[in-house]
This record gives sequence, C-alpha cells and structure tokens, in this order.
Amino acid sequence: MKAPHYPFLDLKIINAPYMHEIEEAVRNVVTSGRYIGGEECERLEEALKVQTGAPYAVGVSNGLDALRLILRAWVDRGDLKKGDEVVVASNTYIASILAIIDAGLRPILAPVDMSTLNLDTARLEESLTPRTRVVMPVHLYGRACWDNQLKEFVEKNQLLVIEDNAQGIGARTTTSGLMGTHVTGGLGHAGAFSFYPTKNIGAVGDAGAIVTHDGDLAARVRALSNYGSDRRYHNIYLGGNCRLDPVQAAVLNVKLKDVDLVGEQRRVIARIYDEMICHKDIEKPILGGEDMVWHQYVVRSQRRDELREYLSAAGVATDVHYATPPHQQPCMTGVDYVAVSDALLQAEAIGGSVLSLPISACTSETDAREIAAIINQFQ
Ligand SMILES: Cc1ncc(COP(=O)(O)O)c(C=O)c1O
Repeated sequence: MKAPHYPFLDLKIINAPYMHEIEEAVRNVVTSGRYIGGEECERLEEALKVQTGAPYAVGVSNGLDALRLILRAWVDRGDLKKGDEVVVASNTYIASILAIIDAGLRPILAPVDMSTLNLDTARLEESLTPRTRVVMPVHLYGRACWDNQLKEFVEKNQLLVIEDNAQGIGARTTTSGLMGTHVTGGLGHAGAFSFYPTKNIGAVGDAGAIVTHDGDLAARVRALSNYGSDRRYHNIYLGGNCRLDPVQAAVLNVKLKDVDLVGEQRRVIARIYDEMICHKDIEKPILGGEDMVWHQYVVRSQRRDELREYLSAAGVATDVHYATPPHQQPCMTGVDYVAVSDALLQAEAIGGSVLSLPISACTSETDAREIAAIINQFQ
C-alpha cells in the first residue's frame, strides 16, 4: 500500500532529530554493564520532579502499571477498601478502567463535558455516593482536566486524586493543583505517566512513571514495582516486576527536555486547524491555551466514517480515539461498574463521531493548511 502523503504519525521521523543523542545514551547504558535501575532511571525521575513540581517520582514499566501501582498502594495502606468507588469519565481509554478494576475498586463512569470531552466537572455531585473515595481526572487528548469545581469537589469530600496523565504531559493549568503546582501529573495526590512510543514524549518501547506529593506512597510504589522489596532479598509486599527499563530511561532523558517545545509545536498546528477548518458537518475542539498539549486533535462529525474515507483517498491519514468506549468492550461483561445518568450514551456518541487529525512533528504548518483545505472540500 502506498504511504499516505500526510502521515498520521511516523515514529522514525519523530525520533530522527534525537537519533545521535539516543544512540550515545543507549550505548552508555550498554557499556555501563548495569541493565536494571541505575543512573538513567534516577535522572528521569529527577527530571519529572522538576517538570511537574511534585517532590517524588518513580519510573515504572508503562502507564497502566503506573495507575495500577498507585491504586494498589493506596489499598495496601488502608486508604481504600475493596469496592470503594473511583470516579472517571465514561469516554476514557480502557487502561484507566483496567487499573481501577485490577485494584479491586469500582469504576463510576461519570458524565463527560461534551465541549472538552473530559470529565464534566459541573456534574461531579451526580457521581457521589458514600463509597466514593477517588477521582481520576484523565487529561484526554492532552487537555488538562482540572478546574476550581473539580478541586473544590475533591477537597470538600476529602477524596484522593490520581491523575491519568498518559496523554497530558506538559500541560499547564490556571487553577492550581491540590499542593499549589500547575502542571499535569503534579496536580492531585499522584499522577501516572505513559511513555508509550506514540505519546508526546515517547520511548522506543514501553515505559511509564508516577509522580506524587506523598513520600510513603512513592516508596510503596517503588517496592511494589520491584517484587515488593524494600531492600535486596527482603520482600515486604506481594509485589511484581514493573520496573522502568534503563534503556528506555536513557531515550526519555534525551527527549523529555523538549516537552514544552513539543506542546508548543502542537499548539501551532492546532491553531492552524482552528483558524482554517470550516465545515458545517465538522465540529472542532475548543482551542484553549497552555492547558492543551494536543496529544490528539479530535474533530467530531456525524459523518465520521465517510469523512475518514474521503481523507484517506486524499492522502490524509487519520485515526479514531476511540470507536468503542470501555463499557462496550467485551471484557467489561460482568464487571461491577456504575454508569451515571447519560454518561454511557455520551461515550457512545463520542465513539461514533470522533476523528483524530495528524498533529505530530510529522505535520508541518504547510501540511496543516493543506489538510484543512482538503477537509473544507468534503462534500
Ligand atoms: C489515557 C490513557 N491511560 C493509560 C494509558 C496506558 O499507558 P501504557 O500504554 O503506557 O500502559 C494510555 C495509553 O496507552 C492512555 O492513553
């Protein structure tokens, strides 16, 4: 098949400017003879602390494990009991839900703000029950899910906040986080990062991290990620092996320093789409400012599939994030979750209409203008 003229994402192109530094960093790991933990992992953790303003960071194997380990540590410590409820937007990626279920907790699929496609912070009270203990804001598509309403809700009800920051790295909020910082990941009690290769800052394999304001939680996550051991051959928890790979850490240390640049480059493309796309059947995302790092630029259309085919024929590759919402996935049959009001209908409406346009470093400003012009000619 012919490669599209406007690729959606080409990781070779994304990583090309870093190749020299990546090769050197990886060679250093290999020649060091230390292949588990070590300096590169520590450097990445330090960089994440600086980036988010959170005082503790722990590198882990991937974003799902980052979420899982935080929730598991809270359960182990007695902050949460099995069956306690975690409020999360109904249209999130399945990983958010899998982590909640894995920890023995109950997902509350909450209403979505249809203008931001994030948790509807004006409707949080609808999700509240005597078992509500946690809110999981997901910074979906790179849009920070954080405002005064959310902050006041969690403070008033003394809830824990775990941010799913898999897609939001680098986003800055105007409302301060619970501890006074303004960068996603560090806003709540703990934040989970994914460095999956396609993420804004991506590894060359799986990788993830947690950041937190809670030193004991960080120590527990570190132990849980390393067979539950607090020191060599001394196992205090029934842990697993979910450690960050130093080769991935080395790659990420090269790329993470550009996190703000990546966000800004994507904002430039988003502004072009926003200015130029004008079509009666296509709804654009609201623009925002530094609270958006545009992991995806997602338009909505009732004619999504037709639009996608048209764009494909015109050489524009697109993607869909995500056609099938979590509650409709086969694995959810028999799972104990709660759907709040119209939240599932909203997730289905979103799944049937969203289309992600190219917005990575593979898309130049000229490309974006041309793509917008092609979209405007959709009949
Ligand atoms: C919103 C969200 N949460 C969690 C994850 C899980 O991250 P990972 O793929 O690194 O396990 C992802 C990404 O895949 C994601 O998009």
